[in-house]
Amino acid sequence: MISTEGKNSSLYHLPVMPEEVLFYLISRQDGTYLDMTCGGGGHLRILSESLSKKAVLFGFDRDNEAVKAASENLKGAPQETHIVNSRFSEINRVTRENKIDKVDGILFDLGVSSHQIDSSERGFSFMQDGPLDMRMNANDSLTAETVVNEYSTDKLLEIFRTYGEQPKARRIVTAIDKKRQEEKIDTTDKLQAVLKSSVSGKDLNNTLARLFQAIRIEVNGELDELTTALPEALDLLAPGGRLVILSYHSLEDRIVKRFFKERAKGCICPDKFPVCACGKKPEVKILTKKVVRPKDEEVVSNSRARSARLRAAQKLN
Ligand SMILES: C[S@@+](CC[C@H](N)C(=O)[O-])C[C@H]1O[C@@H](n2cnc3c(N)ncnc32)[C@H](O)[C@@H]1O
Repeated sequence: MISTEGKNSSLYHLPVMPEEVLFYLISRQDGTYLDMTCGGGGHLRILSESLSKKAVLFGFDRDNEAVKAASENLKGAPQETHIVNSRFSEINRVTRENKIDKVDGILFDLGVSSHQIDSSERGFSFMQDGPLDMRMNANDSLTAETVVNEYSTDKLLEIFRTYGEQPKARRIVTAIDKKRQEEKIDTTDKLQAVLKSSVSGKDLNNTLARLFQAIRIEVNGELDELTTALPEALDLLAPGGRLVILSYHSLEDRIVKRFFKERAKGCICPDKFPVCACGKKPEVKILTKKVVRPKDEEVVSNSRARSARLRAAQKLN
């Protein structure tokens, strides 16, 4: 059993599926590993405890508070360890600047941390009142307040339908549009009240969570971030290196699944071609034939693991 209790990291964010992450990620004890979403450093710390002293660890996060927490959490780690404030879509530039060449494992643990959700002033949660912000990085310009108050109704409709998987999105958007003409919707409580007035009571908290998540995905460009970073991460892997992704939204998981499938495929010439003309070779072997879900015991002790889906692949030559 892996301990996830050390140095306040469990208060910041309990790492999800720790045993499965280590199982799929580690190919070499003395390798170089990148955690693209280090949060409070929960996964990084258990990785550090599982690797030899010769390993090298890098943690990235676009949130400066996470960078501080992870740096604190990894203090005293026996390996060379670097924690960097960066978006993972900038992986190419950052690895070049940090003179990182090929690496043996890359982890993405998508979404937000418990610390972010629980910090009312960040505005991620409908459970606590706070400014309608939702930026993972306070220097970014787009906030949830801008999305909710200034986006066209068509654009909002698309966000709630696509990211929020909400079939009755029109009612919600109509309610938002009416309210924002009366006053600015600038707090999570105000938004929550409008949403509540326009969705049915059944499974209300789940629906509110999904609608807040939809706005957050838009504010932080989360799907574009992932689509940009995946090919760059694969390029960085040494042969035999592993890519492990934990996602919490069906659209994220779909992006990962399609990416792996496409890169695991060899020749794509039409059947009638007598010999291959495309020269496409499989680049990865998919290690998780079926998506891996957390064990029931984990979900009981950490409800935030509930929607986690893990996929992993290994780089071929
Ligand atoms: C689920 S938490 C990670 C928790 C971490 N694995 C741990 O065990 O403590 C996700 C983290 O990813 C960060 N993040 C999300 N999207 C990012 C991106 N595009 N680039 C860098 N960091 C990102 C968030 O700021 C957040 O801290």
